Amino acid sequence: MADTKEAEAPPPCTLVIFGATGDLTKRLLLPALRNLRRDGLLPDQFKLVGIASRDIGDDGFREHLRKAMTEFKAGNGDADIDWFLQRAHYLSGKFEDPKTFAAVAKHVDGNALFYLATPPSEFSIIVKQLGKAGLVEEGQDRWRRVIIEKPFGHDLPSAVALNKEILQVLQESQIFRIDHYLGKQTVQNIMVFRFANGFVEPLWGRDHIDHVQITVAETVGVETRGRFYDSTGALRDMVPNHIFQLVSLIAMEPPARFDAEALRSEKAKVLDAVQRFTPYSARGNVVRAQYAAGTVGGKPVAAYRDSPNVPKDSRTETYVALKLMIDNWRWAGVPFYVRTGKSLSARKTDINIRFKQAPFTLFRDTPVDRLPPNDLTIRIQPDEGVSLRFGVKVPEPQMRIDGVDLTFNYADAFKMLPSTGYETLIYDCMVGDATLFQRADNIEAGWRIVQPILDVWAADRTSILPGYAAGSSGPSEADALLSRDGRSWRRIVPAEK
Ligand code: BG6
Repeated sequence: MADTKEAEAPPPCTLVIFGATGDLTKRLLLPALRNLRRDGLLPDQFKLVGIASRDIGDDGFREHLRKAMTEFKAGNGDADIDWFLQRAHYLSGKFEDPKTFAAVAKHVDGNALFYLATPPSEFSIIVKQLGKAGLVEEGQDRWRRVIIEKPFGHDLPSAVALNKEILQVLQESQIFRIDHYLGKQTVQNIMVFRFANGFVEPLWGRDHIDHVQITVAETVGVETRGRFYDSTGALRDMVPNHIFQLVSLIAMEPPARFDAEALRSEKAKVLDAVQRFTPYSARGNVVRAQYAAGTVGGKPVAAYRDSPNVPKDSRTETYVALKLMIDNWRWAGVPFYVRTGKSLSARKTDINIRFKQAPFTLFRDTPVDRLPPNDLTIRIQPDEGVSLRFGVKVPEPQMRIDGVDLTFNYADAFKMLPSTGYETLIYDCMVGDATLFQRADNIEAGWRIVQPILDVWAADRTSILPGYAAGSSGPSEADALLSRDGRSWRRIVPAEK
């Protein structure tokens, strides 16, 4: 993982974006490229080649870039737009057509990074065609790398098949499977928090931790993504990828070195140790639900089923909560409760570590009736930081204890330049650092855990799908998942300003 602050510009290279006029390019890749330029982290000999189906030509593409870069930015005013326009080229063509790739070959010389920002159904054919056109052959003086967006597969068999197909064309070292959660500074900070602070490790495991809660709550609904989302759902969209990244970073053993292989091996071991769901345990330990009409942030929100391109009888879940158990020595008996959903009461991603309670003995004969919980909360977004909750004596003659927070806020401690999270990932790929990318086995391990759940759901077309009002904190069934263990979810409320 590169330190982009101190880092140097990567070697000269061409970035070829498949899906260059799409949403991802517009909203995230272009702003990220501009931030890299802002920080001096793009080579002067940089070339951007856009490919998509529309025939807009170089000029049309440059116009598109100008508009997109003006509308979507994470930082710079209008600086540098011309720098990119001078280096931009466009090709239109079908991905099934070898002529498209013969045209690409004319633009590519030396190092090249192919970014697959297309629908997942195109990944395999693009990689095959790149191979046939000789575009991914590396040499002494040139590297060729491919970034593959999520979702990587639709289930375990399709992920395995996709890995097999692309590995027939590419070496594992050329493949950069992206999970943009790993581009977030606060996600990378999980490793630093755990492994750069001596006091953490002795507490990190079943002797001291009662349970872990991971929440990825969104206020956005399905918006205009109905077609994609309805065949995907919350489980596939968020769990085997983003949420399992968080689980792995929290639960993994310290890697022997800070390098891609060591880190990815430790992550793979954690997912491998997650207790496999049976059809029975999947029914008991997984809750799915779909949002009904409601109000989010004061604005009315239509029911999921009334969103564009969503069938009126859709059974796709927009919320999922799971109880996971990790069967290894560190975590045996410590539940990991995870939940994610759309159209919830607040946007909040955090990880809460609940420590075991101190013995109550000392306070038995005092007015204290209970001890406040000790919670360590790693706040991923939107308010980024770490908090520790512990008990203090209330300053009064009587013995009373209250819970207070010791809080670190990234924004107070550091000047954070605006970023999309893609900056580090694109840069790392250009310098060949795969630490923050997924290896084939990491991807498959994630799907292996959720596949039994997908199977149970696919077989069940009749049970009542729980609902929750848009703007609420989810279905009551998810509350029951914890209350039967004598626990409860943390409230999903906006951060206090
Ligand atoms: C994407 C999902 O991968 O992650 C979206 O497809 C989701 O549905 C998004 O909204 C969440 O990302 P972030 O960075 O906003 O937490």
